[in-house]
Amino acid sequence: MSHRATVSAPANIAIVKYWGAKDAERVVPYNPSISMTLEVCRSTTTVEPVPADERADGDRVWVVADGARTPAPAAFAERVHAHLDVLRRRTGRSERFRVATSNSFPAAAGLASSASGFAALACAVVRALEIPAETAGDLSVLARLSGSGSAARSVLGGYVEWPGDPVGDCAARQLAPAGHWDLRDVIALVQSGDKEVSSLEGHRRAPTSPYFGRRLELLPGRLDGVRRAIEERDAQALGRLLEQDAIDLHVIAMTSEPPIFYWRPATLAVLEAVRALNRELRQAGAGAWWTMDAGANVHVLCTAEAEEAVAERLASMPGVHGVIRDRVGTGPRDEDADLLALPVAGEAARGDR
Ligand code: PMV
Repeated sequence: MSHRATVSAPANIAIVKYWGAKDAERVVPYNPSISMTLEVCRSTTTVEPVPADERADGDRVWVVADGARTPAPAAFAERVHAHLDVLRRRTGRSERFRVATSNSFPAAAGLASSASGFAALACAVVRALEIPAETAGDLSVLARLSGSGSAARSVLGGYVEWPGDPVGDCAARQLAPAGHWDLRDVIALVQSGDKEVSSLEGHRRAPTSPYFGRRLELLPGRLDGVRRAIEERDAQALGRLLEQDAIDLHVIAMTSEPPIFYWRPATLAVLEAVRALNRELRQAGAGAWWTMDAGANVHVLCTAEAEEAVAERLASMPGVHGVIRDRVGTGPRDEDADLLALPVAGEAARGDR
């Protein structure tokens, strides 16, 4: 049995980052990573297996914007085709698919959508083909084999660890559900468009940094600290470790061969503002801490009572062209929306599907 299925999956923000791939093909990281699953930033994907007589056309992929579909840009479509090939191999199926996908955040926001996008694709394919859990294998593994390691963590809600153990399939596991701790993530957008160096390339270059090995030595203690801070809901401890690991990622990026500079002048201005804000908030027992992935945008993790003040402060900054208010979320979910039913841009009048 197979049918059309729509799933949405969230982005996540790494507290301890995945940075450096031991085996890029199998997406095996050098280190375990821990993240918080988001709620607002998500990708929604509709997948439909095509009838056997139409399979010669192969997979077809659209991206959705402003209520219409357009054929996906070639580079993105290629990644989707490659991921679908992996999903077919892993599940022993041969169907070809029609796929339409959209993001809840603006495409030009400079936010990585690969984690949410490939998690949604893996979940939607498994749903559409009605593959039982024991045959599908771990969704985290299916998502990760897209090539986006962080997608491994987007199939679960709350606080998630991807162990990165090269033995076995190294599936992600939930450390605590979303209800355990209501943390917020206020995202300051300081960059639009794609970053100059992809995370894929960053993972490849990371081991060339003289600081790469040192971070690996420090990580067991940092990971323990983060697990404990989550368990005890200790925001001060979590914030300190979050910032340390973000600094490490960017030091490694800047000292890789050749170096990668993700920061923009506005990035630094936001970090200054968050530090000042944190000093003020601390007096009221609240707090805000920053982190960044492989890009210039700044994620400010904060306690619920601090969110309003953080969002207001960031929105008033000259280099910040947008603020997204997100929070810990519960993970992927089935959706009623049918993105394949939307008209193709420019062909709406003909009712082309
Ligand atoms: O999922 P990838 O392969 O795009 O790598 C993500 C890397 C970071 O976002 C920088 C860190 C992380 O763990 O999410």
